[in-house]
Amino acid sequence: MYSLKRSLLLWLIIPLLLILPAVSAIQYWLIVTPAKAEIDAQLGDFALALARFIHDDNGTVTFKISAQAEKLLLTDQSDKEYFLVLDPAGRALAGDEQLRDPPLVVAPDEWQFIDGHLHQHRLRILVFGTPCGAGVCQIRIAETFVKRNQVRIDALIATIGYSLLFGFITLVVMVLAVRRGLVVLTNLNAHILAQDPNDLILWQGDQLPKELEPLIASWNQLISKLKEAHRAQQQLIADVAHQMRTPLSSLKMEAELALLEPHPPAVHAALENLNRAASRAVHLAAQLLTLARADQGLQAVGQWQVIDLKTVVSALVEEWSRRAMAQAIDLGFELESALIFANASLLTEAISNLLDNAFEYAGPGSVVTVRCRQAGERVFLDVEDNGPGISPEHRERVWQRFYRADNAPGQGINQGSGLGLAIVAEIAKRHDAVTEILSPMVGRGTRIRLSFHAI
Ligand SMILES: Nc1ncnc2c1ncn2[C@@H]1O[C@H](COP(=O)(O)OP(=O)(O)OP(=O)(O)O)[C@@H](O)[C@H]1O
Ligand SMILES: [Mg+2]
Repeated sequence: MYSLKRSLLLWLIIPLLLILPAVSAIQYWLIVTPAKAEIDAQLGDFALALARFIHDDNGTVTFKISAQAEKLLLTDQSDKEYFLVLDPAGRALAGDEQLRDPPLVVAPDEWQFIDGHLHQHRLRILVFGTPCGAGVCQIRIAETFVKRNQVRIDALIATIGYSLLFGFITLVVMVLAVRRGLVVLTNLNAHILAQDPNDLILWQGDQLPKELEPLIASWNQLISKLKEAHRAQQQLIADVAHQMRTPLSSLKMEAELALLEPHPPAVHAALENLNRAASRAVHLAAQLLTLARADQGLQAVGQWQVIDLKTVVSALVEEWSRRAMAQAIDLGFELESALIFANASLLTEAISNLLDNAFEYAGPGSVVTVRCRQAGERVFLDVEDNGPGISPEHRERVWQRFYRADNAPGQGINQGSGLGLAIVAEIAKRHDAVTEILSPMVGRGTRIRLSFHAI
């Protein structure tokens, strides 16, 4: 697959690899040229020094130098040095005759450098013309290449070392820069992954580079369209559920009436089934409607305000106590004042679903307790029963829509549709509350906890 990182790095590294040798060659040349010129200049100094020992005695040119002076002038730490002094007629006045070749003519005060050989040594030879008598004397100074070669080697090592270091640092900086630049994609990715499909949010993107603006704009457009499509879908579900409730309720009523009327025993079982199916359908329609409303976080279902959770639960005491009596359930409330920012009608739906489950699954004779209290920054709402409990392997999945655990009896009139806890989860999410399935304080059973931010 095409990698942006690799492509960027290639576009940076290939030019670097091409430029680096060229820069290194220039650098090498810049080091070696002045160093060589400096060494050549030293030869020039020697030539000038030797020129002082040429004497002109009325037309007779002589060269006189003490052995000591000669040694002083022509001794070098690393190179071997030779010289030759020629009079205007080309006769050797002093020095090494073998330096005579190749023959050259130089003007007075003219310098010429040539390469030659002597005693198997490659030599750098300076030919210098100095006025003497009626003509021009020639001084030839030769030097082996030890110093020059050393300069080249030193320059080469310095250049290669510098290039490697520079290349390495540049490479590291490039890799870091590309990585740093691409972090933005990781952020984008994290943002996309963090999106809740039911609650898509637009990308603010303040911390993003402006190059990504078109992408973010398109992304936000897409999100807006998806949100609209999702909202329309939720609305459709809510509308359908709402529309179905009336005919389903009449169907259920008719089935109940038919059961009360005298009827042939042969159809009794069929009427019972019809009644049960109608009850299930009414319940499903009601649950779907609640879920669709909770999904949309409908403002229409009531106000969001600071309320006392105790008040919300207290409003349910009467209705649920009646049901508890009818089903021989020991229902208790332990309520303390606890302020939260909430939507009372959504909360009522959530608590009703939790009580519904406790009644349904713990069954007659069981003990069900509702508690609410504040502890520091949190407000807890617990609905606890001493029924069969929810085994750990189901605890994650029971929050999913239409999921029912194996223990679900499904015998009651409110036949389960697997939406109750999904509704609770959705409502909890709207309240930024955390849902947990805990074990009861003592014995077996289920304790479902919603924990809210306290005000
Ligand atoms: N208090 C409880 N005790 C034991 N099991 C429970 C309890 N509450 C929920 N469950 C299990 O979790 C499953 C999912 O519950 P949920 O309320 O979502 O669906 P339901 O009760 O089957 O249907 P609905 O609530 O839509 O009528 C249930 O089928 C049941 O197995
Ligand atoms: Mg339920």
